[in-house]
Amino acid sequence: MMKSHSGSEKIIDESIQGSTLTLEQSEQNTRKLYIESYGCQMNFSDSEIVASILAKEGFNTTQELSEADLVLVNTCSIREKAEQTVRKRLEKFNAVKKINPGMKVGVLGCMAERLKSKFLEEEKIVDMVVGPDAYKDLPNLVKEVDEGRNAVNVILSKEETYGDVAPVRLNSNGVTAFVSITRGCDNMCTFCVVPFTRGRERSRDPQSIIEEVNDLWDKGFKEITLLGQNVDSYLWYGGGLKKDFDKATEIQKATSVNFAKLLEMVALAQPKMRIRFSTSNPQDMTLDVIETMAKYDNICKYIHLPVQSGSNRILKAMNRLHTREEYFELIDNIRKIIPDCAISQDMIAGFPTETEEDHQDTLSLMEYVKYDFGFMFAYSERPGTLAARKMEDDIPEETKKRRLREIIDLQQQHSLYRTKQHLGKVEEVLIEGPSKKSDAHWMGRNSQNTVVVFPKENYKVGDFVNVKINDCTSATLIGEAVGLAP
Ligand code: SAH
Ligand code: F3S
Repeated sequence: MMKSHSGSEKIIDESIQGSTLTLEQSEQNTRKLYIESYGCQMNFSDSEIVASILAKEGFNTTQELSEADLVLVNTCSIREKAEQTVRKRLEKFNAVKKINPGMKVGVLGCMAERLKSKFLEEEKIVDMVVGPDAYKDLPNLVKEVDEGRNAVNVILSKEETYGDVAPVRLNSNGVTAFVSITRGCDNMCTFCVVPFTRGRERSRDPQSIIEEVNDLWDKGFKEITLLGQNVDSYLWYGGGLKKDFDKATEIQKATSVNFAKLLEMVALAQPKMRIRFSTSNPQDMTLDVIETMAKYDNICKYIHLPVQSGSNRILKAMNRLHTREEYFELIDNIRKIIPDCAISQDMIAGFPTETEEDHQDTLSLMEYVKYDFGFMFAYSERPGTLAARKMEDDIPEETKKRRLREIIDLQQQHSLYRTKQHLGKVEEVLIEGPSKKSDAHWMGRNSQNTVVVFPKENYKVGDFVNVKINDCTSATLIGEAVGLAP
């Protein structure tokens, strides 16, 4: 998920981007790959794995759609609108194919997994359909397509973590990077399509994670985000599914690595590297993790902690395995152990059967937490999910929209309340690049993940700078540099 402060559907539109290969572009490669990613951060990270696998097959990436030999679109199924966005892009590819008839088109990611070979029937432009666990089969699939056949592989895996593939960094600012640590999700929230499109949860070998982080540091990166659908559920005991941990040997259990331990290993491996992680499911977040965050300066003080609803009845219907009260307890613990920790949310408005009272519970939960920011959505029924099968999508569209508006408006107030707390402080900011609005300013983030802009002076991308915060909007802090951070 790309970060946004409100009205999150625009996330998907903003994420339309052809990706350029910044590293490892090989002169021997003769074919051109154009790859576009939608949806969550994991998709962006997966596209880097795909680019790496195809680089070995003779493909360099290009940002020019019209010169591509192979066009790949890494898709998202999380809401209906995300799928519609991809369908529109396929229309565009269709138009381009008229001037570039040799171009082949493949769909990757969650829509590929959800629709499988139906995609080939529904969209004539599509030559290849590849699910999220089948990217290592791409060399074979591309060969099939080269020989004029359609190719499909949507087999989900219990082991695949791509731990042995060194991602090619796409669209990179050279400063921040994603490192995936788990794949799939075992949670089965009733509204969510992810467990169906990304399969069972499995964790990646911590050694390969550390190696990737070390390599990123050597290449000049200064911040990494450990990625997973549910990072707090990370568990390595020598391979295998999380659900089979019970069957592990005593030695495997004794030497297992959980998320708190992994965080510590990463923090110690690169003490100057900033470390973030996403996403935390409240039911799996332990005190250990919070204490580890507090213990290491280089772990950023920010937790994305989706709750979806403030109503116990709705939480239960969503199969979120915690109550409102347990969530408050977790929030209290975070605030006690890390007083300056930023917290963000995901919310769904208009889940089936949601009453005005349930909605008020959501607003009052938000009042309690006063999130720094959030990603808010109207409920979108997804085929095959438990909610779709068992519950009627019975909240009228206008009601969903109105409740969503109320949630977004309240979040906006809280965001401003939170950004104002930074006024007058000096905060460490990692420069990521020029500000979108002004060439004379840098843009970076503080530890809490809030965007900070300030005049460039002689600082450069990748510098850690102490910035005095003088002004703010609900989304951005505005300041001036007072010197390099020690
Ligand atoms: N654990 C995941 C969550 C993936 S989905 C992660 O790493 O981010 C991201 C968010 O999309 C969810 O938290 C939820 O708020 C929203 N979402 C998921 N399914 C949805 C649906 N059917 N309708 C509306 N919003 C949905
Ligand atoms: Fe989806 Fe719930 Fe997993 S939101 S990704 S099923 S934690």
